[in-house]
Amino acid sequence: MKDKFYITTPIYYANAAPHIGHAYTTVAADALARFYKSQGANVFLLTGMDEHGAKIQKAAEEAGKSPQEFVNGIAEIFEGLWKILEIENNGFIRTTNEKHKEAVRKVLQILFEKGAIYKGEYEGLYCTGCEQFKSENELVDGKCPDHNIAPEMTKEECYLLKMTELQKELIEKIESDEFQIAPERYKKEILSFLEGQKLEDVSISRKNILWGIPLPFDEEHTTYVWVDAFLNYLTGLGWNGDLNDVPKQWPMDVQLIGKDILRVHATIWPIMLLHLGLPLPKKLFVHGHILSGGKKMSKTLGNAIGIDEMIQKFGSDGTRYLLLSAGTFGDDVDVTMERMIEKYNADLANGLGNLVSRVIKLLQNFQFPISNFQLISNDKIFNLINNLEIDKATEFIWKIVRDANKYIEDTKPWESAKDESRKEEFEKVMQKLVDDLGLIAELLTPFMPQTSEKIKKSLETKKLDEVLFQRIK
Ligand code: ME8
Ligand code: MG
Repeated sequence: MKDKFYITTPIYYANAAPHIGHAYTTVAADALARFYKSQGANVFLLTGMDEHGAKIQKAAEEAGKSPQEFVNGIAEIFEGLWKILEIENNGFIRTTNEKHKEAVRKVLQILFEKGAIYKGEYEGLYCTGCEQFKSENELVDGKCPDHNIAPEMTKEECYLLKMTELQKELIEKIESDEFQIAPERYKKEILSFLEGQKLEDVSISRKNILWGIPLPFDEEHTTYVWVDAFLNYLTGLGWNGDLNDVPKQWPMDVQLIGKDILRVHATIWPIMLLHLGLPLPKKLFVHGHILSGGKKMSKTLGNAIGIDEMIQKFGSDGTRYLLLSAGTFGDDVDVTMERMIEKYNADLANGLGNLVSRVIKLLQNFQFPISNFQLISNDKIFNLINNLEIDKATEFIWKIVRDANKYIEDTKPWESAKDESRKEEFEKVMQKLVDDLGLIAELLTPFMPQTSEKIKKSLETKKLDEVLFQRIK
């Protein structure tokens, strides 16, 4: 068993309101955090906002606001959403926070003094959507496929981070799983990328972007937004940049990201840590994209399904469930409103909701002495969650739900209830149903916390205060 469990999500760009892609990662991280908490681990879940850089500066200008005013508004929306979705985050880091900015400057100074950062010049194609330089072979018809815009050729004086000298060490740490990248195919993808070419030193400062943290050793430059952003994973624990005082939760046990930001998280980020002499994350887990109409759902592309719309239709727990069970965690999943409504009706209204109301009604209508339901932990679910097979874990629970519903139909307890000579049979059936429901409630804790509580309460009071999931037309 883990004694501590530190899990992070990416910090999201404060350029627009959240959509279901952001909720996907964050809900998954929360489910994992809740699971390990239920196992007694000392859990820290960190999420937050990435608030500097060209993309945000531009969005603020378009909104006619100062960048700070603008990001304050967006951060509030994200935080509000996490409350509604019952995310139990222990930290909410914002990169415009003074303590964060100071720590970033301290780290940059250390890297500069170590000789890991040097002054030079960089020329390349910059995609503002990605906030990254792109190579020709990453483009489709001259455009960034994620943002459908042609990157700009820029050439400027800048500071660079040395990458090449640590490439070999990085490869070794990935190969040996000291820095594990999962699922396996992403590890392969990164290794073949790292083995196929010499890593170029990367530009870590911009001269004409004002909305950023000035370099401590050259105030004409601001810090490249990714370098600023990566350090959130440390400053979010309260770190002030002192290498002799690294938080005890470090490193993360699971660092959760979408595949869009794998490359940077598997190259620049670990190399920064190696330069600093800090341990690398234990596991970088990469999930796929939520697609809509075959394309990555994104704010920039404008094909995003509103998370508000989802919550309005399905409620907080319904939304959590539909996201977590949308498809294999790790693979891309294509979602449509129609399919989500279908699944809601099948699994929640007809499946779980129906089971709960049938069992509680039976308990209410017929005297039945339940000794108290058993809350049993379950190895199978433990293994699935440990491997981040989150969707498989929900499938496992729903098999119990479906089997229990079938068991009711097969055994018809409302008939045996009225027949004194079948008393024993009735009680046996009811005990099994109550045990199943208790187990379901327990297993649901990390995924659907409110529903789990409601079921436990109903089992105790033998009353159901509300229909759990209303069928949606
Ligand atoms: O990249 N499907 O922020 P971002 C699944 N600030 N997940 C998705 C998704 C989709 N369609 N869209 C977004 C940034 N996500 C940087 C990160 S970290 C040091 C800095 C999720 O607002 C997924 O986790 O573009 C993805 O990696 C992240 O949001 C990108 O959010
Ligand atoms: Mg993005």
